[in-house]
Amino acid sequence: MRRTSAAVVAAGAVLCLGLTACSGEGAGGAGDAGGAASKDAMVGVSMPTQTSERWIADGNSVKERLEDAGYGVNLQYANDDIPTQSQQIDQMITQGADALIIAAIDGTALSSQLQAAKDAGIPVISYDRLIRNTPNTDFYVTFDNFKVGVAQANALLTGLGLRKADGSDGTAKGPFAVELFAGSLDDNNSVFFWDGAMSVLKPLITDGTLVVESGQTKIEQAAILRWQQETAQRRMEDLLTSTYNDGRRVDGVLSPYDGLSRGIITALQNAGYGPTADAETPMPVVTGQDAEIASVKLVADGVQQSTIFKDTRKLAEQAARAAQAFLEGGTPEANDTKTYDNGVKVVPSFLLPVETVYRDTIKTALVDTGYYTAQEVASGKAD
Ligand code: BGC
Repeated sequence: MRRTSAAVVAAGAVLCLGLTACSGEGAGGAGDAGGAASKDAMVGVSMPTQTSERWIADGNSVKERLEDAGYGVNLQYANDDIPTQSQQIDQMITQGADALIIAAIDGTALSSQLQAAKDAGIPVISYDRLIRNTPNTDFYVTFDNFKVGVAQANALLTGLGLRKADGSDGTAKGPFAVELFAGSLDDNNSVFFWDGAMSVLKPLITDGTLVVESGQTKIEQAAILRWQQETAQRRMEDLLTSTYNDGRRVDGVLSPYDGLSRGIITALQNAGYGPTADAETPMPVVTGQDAEIASVKLVADGVQQSTIFKDTRKLAEQAARAAQAFLEGGTPEANDTKTYDNGVKVVPSFLLPVETVYRDTIKTALVDTGYYTAQEVASGKAD
């Protein structure tokens, strides 16, 4: 993935932190008109894990944007371990962070850290995942998570031939056998993805067009703790042996994240599906999210049907703008003040749009925008 400023400029995501000529669009618009950033300020950035490429890209992008704006950055990854993340944030606070940007592992586990931040006058920006059950989440930058779920469900229907990519009716009639996966239940986003997807799929399950052969239609049954690829693979293997052992075939799998999709695809291939959608025993329609490079290659090769692209460069830019607004004594500009109730209050949010990527839109969505090079897509590895 290209992370240079040049690529960002080429993509139209011009960083304008600290420049008075900025339009005010975005999270930093409302409070940052006057005054230069305090250049010796330090921002603590806490990311959940390095096992998923998306969070590495997020961490790097946030760091780069904050440093471009003249701030010091303390970036930490927590290996998907809740105590590690809590400790890292405690340390950021004792080491004098002036603002915190946090992508939580468990959105309900950081109340005492956020109280300590509040007591020390440190603003907290929830990054991508909402921090819940605390009055001390000051701002939230994310994508439109409900729409991610809607887009994943629509991609599934498109792959099955029930819908066309433009949303109109397809020629297929069903019934189709599908299985449903959800993310980690301690991640608030998982519920939004699921609710968005079910808003599209439920009527078709009710009228019999889609049949969840396993009967596992509740989020608790479909959830994969900590978003682990291996756990998803095991669940798919279990579904295949428990439910599809009598000649029945799976036609589609709703998967909310590329890492899970890779586990699901491995289980399906080991059971004789695929290897691609064109094979005699075709790979079922498998959705995804994050446009991770290994999965983009699977989409290019006709193995995974789709992914949802969330431009982490833009999210990083919004997080940096929000931090700057707070550091200059202002308030970040929200574009949603209704949706994200964290259990204690509705957290003002800035939501970014998402885009479904199919085999034939990889070039326009991901290569032409400078997110990946054609070479990276061909190799399935980020440079
Ligand atoms: C993010 C997704 C990601 C998932 C697993 C969610 O909170 O919004 O983009 O796929 O975590 O890392």
